[in-house]
Amino acid sequence: MDKVLKIPNHVAIIVDGNGRWATARRMSRSEGHEAGFQNLKNLTAYIYQTGVKYISAYLFSTENFKRSEAEVRFLMNLLTGKLKDILEFCHEEKIKAIFSGRTEKLSNKVIEAMNKIEEETKDYQDKTFNICFNYGSHAEIIDATKKIVSDVQTNNLDINDLDEDLYSKYLYNNLPPVDLLIRTSGEERLSNFMLWQCSYAELYFPKTYFPDFKEKDFDKALEEYTKRDRRFGGVNYDQKNN
Ligand code: IPE
Ligand code: IPE
Ligand code: MG
Repeated sequence: MDKVLKIPNHVAIIVDGNGRWATARRMSRSEGHEAGFQNLKNLTAYIYQTGVKYISAYLFSTENFKRSEAEVRFLMNLLTGKLKDILEFCHEEKIKAIFSGRTEKLSNKVIEAMNKIEEETKDYQDKTFNICFNYGSHAEIIDATKKIVSDVQTNNLDINDLDEDLYSKYLYNNLPPVDLLIRTSGEERLSNFMLWQCSYAELYFPKTYFPDFKEKDFDKALEEYTKRDRRFGGVNYDQKNN
């Protein structure tokens, strides 16, 4: 008998372990990132097939600029080189692509390509792919706060109207809360990823390096998610009278 699985609405993925995956194979870190990118495409298509509506993927953090100049350049060029590929993929799968992150430090060419992808895919309704590039959650919260202060100063916002829903609208994208966060490679931390949106996310930390995290591994994540008892600060019905 098929198990009835709970399907999260929003899955966030911290793509991690590309470097270690490559090192274990005596390959360069760059080859690990290339393998990770290929896997992300296949995995994303599969995750939507399970019924998930939103996927957020962490591909480059504001802190990743601390890496060697060569690795930063490779990662920038990898995304730039794949933007056309991403656009084709989104059209094939009918996915709305959106980007989250700071645009400063990105070239005009990359920014234009990102805008084109967002514009061309904006009418797809059922699947949203949030690509987090040059993203940091602290930066996102600071950027949102600056916009809020500016709107208050120009009388476009009454500070008394500010609540959680309105705050979310000031973030890079107004997304539903993350239900399931997956970080591959065995690291068990958020590394500045979607701190606002993950406040009640179920966290799942498989040991697999990202390039090896396949469909069957996502099925296991769904099985684990199905077992979790999400309480959101309340008490479940069967425990209420204890
Ligand atoms: C994830 O893989 C991709 C990025 C952070 C850009 P890593 O590059 O962090 O791989 P490890 O953690 O060194 O193995
Ligand atoms: C987090 O991974 C950033 C991305 C996946 C883009 P890192 O590999 O950079 O995180 P730390 O340094 O291990 O916390
Ligand atoms: Mg890492």
